[in-house]
This record gives sequence, C-alpha cells and structure tokens, in this order.
Amino acid sequence: MKLVDEAGGLAATRHARRPVVTVAVEGMVFHRPVPTGSVLRFEASVVAVGRSSLDVVVDVQQEDPIAGTLERVHTANMVYVALGDDDRPAPVPPLSPETPQELERHRAAMDRRAARVRG
Ligand SMILES: CC(C)(COP(=O)(O)OP(=O)(O)OC[C@H]1O[C@@H](n2cnc3c(N)ncnc32)[C@H](O)[C@@H]1OP(=O)(O)O)[C@@H](O)C(=O)NCCC(=O)NCCS
Repeated sequence: MKLVDEAGGLAATRHARRPVVTVAVEGMVFHRPVPTGSVLRFEASVVAVGRSSLDVVVDVQQEDPIAGTLERVHTANMVYVALGDDDRPAPVPPLSPETPQELERHRAAMDRRAARVRG
C-alpha cells in the first residue's frame, strides 16, 4: 500500500508540477494474493482533476518473467491535493482524456466525485 501511494503521488506530482499530499484512499481491491518476492509492476494514471485535487488510479500487476505474463493483482483509487508555496491547495492543469479507457476512467472518477459531494 505504501508503494501504491508512492506511485500515485508521483503521477499526481508529474501532472500538477507541484508537491502533492494524499487526501483520500477511495478504494483498494486486492484481486489475488501476492506471494513474497513477486515481481510487481505499478502503473499510476491521473484520471480526473478538480481545482486542486487529482484522482489517480493505480494498477498493480504481477509479472512472471519466465512466462512473460502480467496479471492484475491490485487496483486503488487515490485522491491527492496539490500544494502551493504556502502549503495550501493550489490549482492544477486541466486533464484531457482521449482514449476510450481514459474517457471511461474519467467518467468513473467523476461519478466518485459526485458521490463525495453528495456525502
Ligand atoms: C489536503 C488539505 C491541504 C486540503 O485542505 P482543505 O482545507 O480541506 O482544502 P479545501 O477544502 O480547499 O479542499 C481542497 C481540495 O481537496 C479536496 N478534498 C478535501 N478533502 C477531501 C477528501 N476527504 N476526499 C477527497 N477530496 C478532498 C476538495 O474537494 C478540494 O478539491 P478541489 O480543489 O479540486 O475542488 C488538508 O486536508 C490536509 O492537509 N490534509 C492532510 C493531508 C496529509 O497529511 N496527507 C498525508 C496522509 S499520510
């Protein structure tokens, strides 16, 4: 989970070009057990942004280097907030989802945002 947070924070920082803090872990699914010593691949994508907040999906895949296969083992929906020099929330650049997967993940993140507002 620490590595997931680090991967997500890095993706958010790259997009914001500012330091970020983790503000919420909205969902974590462990799809299958991960044996100690497994080779893991982390892929973190910014899927939606607000004024200062960024929704990031982190996918973790287990690699079998002999078989040359990747299997999804973990998915997390994280929220980060970009901070300005005053350590207060600062604006982030807009996001332009384009591919079908980006558009689908953006729509799902906007649904989560709407649910947050509804409480
Ligand atoms: C992140 C933080 C600076 C935000 O401060 P704040 O006074 O709540 O600021 P705001 O109310 O202006 O909210 C800023 C943004 O955070 C979002 N936000 C705040 N709380 C949130 C939550 N629980 N879940 C999702 N988003 C949240 C707001 O929606 C807003 O998004 P927007 O700018 O895109 O509209 C403050 O909550 C904080 O410092 N939290 C602790 C972070 C931390 O220590 N993380 C490390 C954990 S190990």
